[in-house]
Amino acid sequence: MSKPIDFYELPPKPHAKRSRLLQHCVLALGIIGLWKLYSASGPVELSPHANLDVPVRADTFDWFKLLPSETLEWVRCYQEPFQCARLEVPLDYAKPHGQKAAVALIKYPSKYPAGHEKWRGPILFNPGGPGGSGVSLVRGLGANMSKIIGDEFDMVGFDPRGIGHTTPQFVVLNTQAEVVTWSLQYPPLINSTDDALAKLHGYWKIMGELAEERQAHTAAHMSTAIVARDMLAITKAHGREKLQYWGFSYGTVLGITYSAMFPDNVGRVIVDGVVDLENYYSGAWDNNLMDTDKDLATVLDSCAASSTCPLHEATGKLVGKRLDAILARLKTDPIPVRTSSSDYGMVDFVLARALLFVGLYKPVGMYPLIFAALAEVEKGNGDLLWAMSGVKSSSWRCECGSGEELALFPAETTAAVACSDADVVRTDLTQLKQHYANMARLSSFADTWGIHVYCTGWKVRAVERYNGPFVGNTSFPMLFIGNTADPVTPLWAAKKMSKGFKDAVVLTQNSPGHCSLAATSLCTSKYIRAYFQNGTLPAAGTVCEDEDEIFMPDNVTVNGVAREIGMLSAEDRELLDAARDLSSRFEPPRLGFF
Ligand SMILES: *[C@@H]1O[C@H](CO)[C@@H](O)[C@H](O)[C@H]1NC(C)=O
Ligand SMILES: *[C@@H]1O[C@H](CO)[C@@H](O)[C@H](O)[C@H]1NC(C)=O
Ligand SMILES: *[C@@H]1O[C@H](CO)[C@@H](O)[C@H](O)[C@H]1NC(C)=O
Ligand SMILES: *[C@@H]1O[C@H](CO)[C@@H](O)[C@H](O)[C@H]1NC(C)=O
Ligand SMILES: *[C@@H]1O[C@H](CO)[C@@H](O)[C@H](O)[C@H]1NC(C)=O
Repeated sequence: MSKPIDFYELPPKPHAKRSRLLQHCVLALGIIGLWKLYSASGPVELSPHANLDVPVRADTFDWFKLLPSETLEWVRCYQEPFQCARLEVPLDYAKPHGQKAAVALIKYPSKYPAGHEKWRGPILFNPGGPGGSGVSLVRGLGANMSKIIGDEFDMVGFDPRGIGHTTPQFVVLNTQAEVVTWSLQYPPLINSTDDALAKLHGYWKIMGELAEERQAHTAAHMSTAIVARDMLAITKAHGREKLQYWGFSYGTVLGITYSAMFPDNVGRVIVDGVVDLENYYSGAWDNNLMDTDKDLATVLDSCAASSTCPLHEATGKLVGKRLDAILARLKTDPIPVRTSSSDYGMVDFVLARALLFVGLYKPVGMYPLIFAALAEVEKGNGDLLWAMSGVKSSSWRCECGSGEELALFPAETTAAVACSDADVVRTDLTQLKQHYANMARLSSFADTWGIHVYCTGWKVRAVERYNGPFVGNTSFPMLFIGNTADPVTPLWAAKKMSKGFKDAVVLTQNSPGHCSLAATSLCTSKYIRAYFQNGTLPAAGTVCEDEDEIFMPDNVTVNGVAREIGMLSAEDRELLDAARDLSSRFEPPRLGFF
């Protein structure tokens, strides 16, 4: 008997050699080109079609050999101990007998098999974006997550609609030539030239039309509300009624939407790096940057407190002045770089500016490198900054069939979710200029934040949208986490959103960076473990300190730090090690990908 043809069985699209680089806790970034920054060292995942005409890598998995099914049929995939499955769900839940979608799932399994008395079920993850792959997140961090949370749970990653290995896949720019052409012409900053905002507005008008012509049907089924239904379906496919979840950045839009739609199906829900959903669903994207300057100030002060900081000055203000001078000089005097016969380019203002902003997602770890690179730029040498940016002429070279990865244009997926979710945005260029003038009063980084522009040209609306109210008497209290200096999800939003949910608690982490994992905090790790294991919530108003320094302050000795760690119990020391490891591997999700 032949099966009716469903979406996931359509022949592979021509974008056969594209790959997705690892994206974690992302509140979409606006600056194309630099989005590869964090990914440079991360695992690279090939597309499911990669084996059609390129050598199969040892670490790939042929998702398309796996037949989707309504029950979870786990098979071994990638390396031990991962297992993968494709769950068949309705493309549109209002038409349960209509076309199907297949959600790609990966699990880092519990020590105990499903059904064992100690097994505690799946914890689902979303890495943010929108557009990030949960499969990539759990492949990269599942082992480390399990160490923090406990091996009674399965760590389960899934690719949201349209994304990664979930089908149907959303791709607008479907040839290498198109991707490269877009990436080279697209203005990276709203202010990079006098006509940059007008060009962005124009490019997104074109993209909105292309998306409608080429991918309207897929884009219409990528909404957060539909993915929330998928999360319930995944939970039920595990034989359970209540969701266990940890979502970062855009993943908080998903977790909060789910909890408002299905308050009776909330088991444990952590939303970490919280977005203001009313702002998100309006398509405005204009209150994300409230704490960005505070985040930068934290970096500058840390630099002033440490003579090891490459741009060290007596006060944070003076470090800021030095930084401004380096960038101002680049505006008129960009530096040519050649690191090899085929790797060359210009280190300019836009590159440095973008790097400053991206670094704010995870100042610990990033800023020592960024300031070292900028100290070299100050001396007229751009090599380090060039290397960090990941912009390489060779990475665009077409070696068709060789398997060399080709980056896709990540903003298209971000737009497909965020803009199809949003109210229709009809901002003309004059209004757009006003929009950014207003934002510039809120933050000095307004020029990096382009997501609202994406939505000005978007035409496709999702078949199902949920845009409020964001309230619920949830069957278990939710845990909201916010950092005191998060560049794109201000603590304010966590406090605001928590008010709608019964007995929800906000845990504040006193650290810079995007999402709690941007820093290491033993205190936060303990609360997360206790929440999943015992359902214990922190007391209202709890603030966790982190253990990190961006630059090691002069008045802190290595011996002093060692003494403090020595005083910890063995269990705490182990948790601290696991938390450090997790945080160091964590790529903060980029909200909107700039
Ligand atoms: C763009 O640059 C101008 C001039 O420096 C500045 O006044 C304006 O605030 C900037 N706009 C944004 C959105 O940053
Ligand atoms: C939650 O429960 C309270 C008390 O029963 C009720 O007043 C309120 O309307 C409920 N809220 C929601 C969103 O259901
Ligand atoms: C959970 O509760 C048990 C019993 O009270 C306790 O022994 C254990 O330490 C708690 N675990 C966490 C992570 O708080
Ligand atoms: C180091 O200096 C900072 C800022 O002056 C201060 O807050 C901190 O308590 C000092 N730490 C130690 C260990 O003295
Ligand atoms: C984190 O995960 C990696 C593999 O993904 C593993 O090598 C490492 O040991 C893990 N760290 C901890 C503390 O478990």
